[in-house]
Amino acid sequence: MKERIDLLIEGAKQAINACESVVDVNNVKVKFLGKNGELTALLKGMKDVPAEQRPEIGKLVNVARDTIEGLIASKQADLASKELEDKMQRESVDITLDSGVCQRGSLHPTTLVQNQIIDIFTGLGFSIAQGPEIELDFFNFQALNIPKDHPARDMQDTFYISDDMLLRTHTSPVQVRTMTSQKPPIRIICPGKVYRPDDDATHSPMFQQIEGLVVDKNITLCDLKGILEKFAQQLFDSNTKTRLRPSYFPFTEPSVEVDVTCSVCHGKGCRICKGTGWIEILGAGIVNPKVLDNCGIDSKEYSGFAFGLGIERIAMIKYGIPDMRILFDNDVRFLKEFK
Ligand code: DAH
Repeated sequence: MKERIDLLIEGAKQAINACESVVDVNNVKVKFLGKNGELTALLKGMKDVPAEQRPEIGKLVNVARDTIEGLIASKQADLASKELEDKMQRESVDITLDSGVCQRGSLHPTTLVQNQIIDIFTGLGFSIAQGPEIELDFFNFQALNIPKDHPARDMQDTFYISDDMLLRTHTSPVQVRTMTSQKPPIRIICPGKVYRPDDDATHSPMFQQIEGLVVDKNITLCDLKGILEKFAQQLFDSNTKTRLRPSYFPFTEPSVEVDVTCSVCHGKGCRICKGTGWIEILGAGIVNPKVLDNCGIDSKEYSGFAFGLGIERIAMIKYGIPDMRILFDNDVRFLKEFK
């Protein structure tokens, strides 16, 4: 019996040593200590051992079980920690490696300019109003004093969706939506996308505008000039001068084009300003009393000024971009210049 016990321990030792995984060890455990295992078989043989030897043999069997259990536990612990180490090695990430794929982006120049313009006007007390890009003819044209078949419609080529619905050609309909829903005093800017079927170096079928509108008592052209001068000085530089030239828009009377001194040559004349020293930045005027009346605001009591500018055009002037299409190409080499 003693020999069988020694053999069993020896066999278990070899089997445990040969284990390469926690699963192998579990199998060995079943093989030796399980219900039908070899040690259990040995215990069953105890009944054939003479009674006087039983205590001694019983002790030996207990020692054998303890030995085998101890060996199994330590092998299991060894293998478990080795497997954990292997896993950590396999799944380790070298955080010092330059991945090279995740580059930080930057804001698009049009967005930069839009944000800057919004900042300037909100700093001057304007709030932001928005309207739909698919617009009714009424808001885009009729309420702005451009009836159907009026020649002024030719000023803005239009994508029509139906007879009465179109892609807005300017942000001016947001003026109308505001004036028909709010009472003066009104002081808003309306940034947004607008659409016209034009496509060349200075026009794009989709571009962005910012509309401005102030309606209150006793608003004059001087207020317009003062606000726009402050705006231009913050947008370009503090020495920028502003001038108004007579123009025509159906929704303003009088209407003006606003020029600023060229930010490149400061008025001396250069390639950018085509030698004139001035650059046109927007259209504006005193809100036509007909428009106020169309919107339910009494034009005898209130007056207002309005202006509209193209954001891409301002970005082109500010950054010296010669062709508007570059703003839409999204060439990363160009966009990186604005980091
Ligand atoms: N809506 C005009 C355009 O897109 C721009 C404009 C001019 C807006 C004069 C105004 C304005 O509010 O007063 O060409």
